Amino acid sequence: MTQKNTSQNVIWHHATVTRLRREQKNHHNSVVIWFTGLSGAGKSTLAHAVEERLFQYGFNTFVLDGDNIRHGLCGDLGFTDSDRKENIRRISETAKLMLEAGVITLTAFISPFRSERLMARKMMPHGDFIEVYCYCPLSVCEQRDVKGLYKKARLGEIKHFTGISSPYEEPDNPELAIDTGVFGLPESVEKVIALLRERNILPAGKIDAL
Ligand code: ADX
Repeated sequence: MTQKNTSQNVIWHHATVTRLRREQKNHHNSVVIWFTGLSGAGKSTLAHAVEERLFQYGFNTFVLDGDNIRHGLCGDLGFTDSDRKENIRRISETAKLMLEAGVITLTAFISPFRSERLMARKMMPHGDFIEVYCYCPLSVCEQRDVKGLYKKARLGEIKHFTGISSPYEEPDNPELAIDTGVFGLPESVEKVIALLRERNILPAGKIDAL
């Protein structure tokens, strides 16, 4: 959704403490790592495990997690297409602020629509948005059904449920795709860390130990 900006007569104030200065102080770059995939595909588990690894090595990190954000910032939104779009718009704006704040930000939202993921990507400077597709067949997610939501969706007790009664559009060209039905958590974490190394997001000396 393209939000019409109704704030008028508002002039941008430039910070003297810039993103670059924060990154220099932190001794690492900031980036947005955007995990997408079905409910139960392992986005949150992987995002938190990657964060744990990075945090232990002294990086500044934060996870924005769908289940948590929907208790607060997006607590007024449901799961219709337009509410999901607004959800992702708010998260993208938040992630953009965190990028400016010098933080390695990991987002874990189904984010089912290509157009909104593209919108999020375009909001960030080139190279600062890394899309990680947590691929897991619907049948496996449904079998896991950690929260019991697939069962309810099949019974029609939950409307617009992703994969059942609401679409999930697979990424065309993510920076990384991980089959979480095949790879275990440690291997998946390693794949994300390897990508961050490859892209020089983590400083060389510090990451050798990772
Ligand atoms: S998104 O589609 O707008 O990106 P988001 O990631 O914030 O979704 O929230 C998904 C989480 O909300 C799921 O992991 C699940 O626990 C819960 N949920 C509740 N209702 C639904 C629904 N109709 N479809 C998908 N997830 C739902």
